[in-house]
Amino acid sequence: MPTRYLVTGGAGFIGSALVRHLLGQESGNVTVVDNLYSGKLANIEAVKDRIEFHKTDIRDYEALRPLMDGVEVVFHLAAIPSVPRSISEPVPSHDVNCNGTFNVYRAAHEAQVRRVVYAASSSAYGDTDVLPKTESMMPRPKSPYALQKLMGEYYGSVFHSCFGLEAVALRFFNVFGPRQDPGSPYSGVLSLFMKAALEGQTPTIFGDGEQSRDFTYVEDVAALVYKAAHAPGVSGRVYNAGNGGRYTLNFVWDQVQKLAGVTLPANYGPPRAGDVRDSQADTAAAQRDLNHSPQFSIEEGLRRTFDWYRGA
Ligand SMILES: NC(=O)c1ccc[n+]([C@@H]2O[C@H](COP(=O)([O-])OP(=O)(O)OC[C@H]3O[C@@H](n4cnc5c(N)ncnc54)[C@H](O)[C@@H]3O)[C@@H](O)[C@H]2O)c1
Repeated sequence: MPTRYLVTGGAGFIGSALVRHLLGQESGNVTVVDNLYSGKLANIEAVKDRIEFHKTDIRDYEALRPLMDGVEVVFHLAAIPSVPRSISEPVPSHDVNCNGTFNVYRAAHEAQVRRVVYAASSSAYGDTDVLPKTESMMPRPKSPYALQKLMGEYYGSVFHSCFGLEAVALRFFNVFGPRQDPGSPYSGVLSLFMKAALEGQTPTIFGDGEQSRDFTYVEDVAALVYKAAHAPGVSGRVYNAGNGGRYTLNFVWDQVQKLAGVTLPANYGPPRAGDVRDSQADTAAAQRDLNHSPQFSIEEGLRRTFDWYRGA
């Protein structure tokens, strides 16, 4: 029997990469649930004949619940995924990231899904005194978004302990790669850098540009998410899904300029509320329990990503 997977947010940037990864595995049967808030059908156009797509909002429990019948693993990636947007528009952010996430766990439990793999966020750590950030550190969320994503982890752990649903949370660290939408000021910083370089525009960096991030290539994330669906003995646990490196925004903007063959000094704006200063994952637990080692260096990831944006 093929394994039945359901991906919420499967028309989004990371979700669509995961869908392609699942289709590349042995025998998988993939359902995508997405309301196309920020996701796009174009992201799954190439595989549309091999998946089942439902334009459904995860806040609509009655619509969501029957889609889980017969599903073995749910990958829950649907969210409004932005720190600044959760500050400028806190209500929809809370509604989707908290109430929608509760619906996903509840529907999965009711439908007797075996496991939910949840897209958590490194933002839950906040500013830590020590780097890299390890899963045993006390979370200190600095924004509504970080808190909402942390709540989703806690709900997973409680659905595991109280209801017996297997739940694994993966804290993604600044994922980048093809199909990340640069279309709004809330977009991921690397997608904005790529767009700026290709259009010959100067990007705005909020702060001095010396803030650092563990940029992680999207295909590494998809591979880890898949492993988290099948690894034994990890239910109720949280793992970092990072690359283990740490690069400043000034460094990556330099790299993007080199790839594009342009010289465009960045504009610097005031630091943004809710942003953490430094981020770097300790990847030892994911390596030990999920047998995962990232395959893509920052240079290789940037090159592939730039090639994709240039072609698009
Ligand atoms: N990109 C990152 O660096 C990063 C870092 C940490 C965590 N994450 C998490 O990874 C997940 C995917 O993020 P992404 O970067 O691919 O963003 P994305 O915006 O491309 O994907 C989110 C998807 O969720 C869908 N969605 C939003 N609200 C919905 C709703 N109410 N019902 C159904 N679908 C809905 C959107 O249409 C979109 O397709 C999110 O949960 C995000 O919080 C991302």
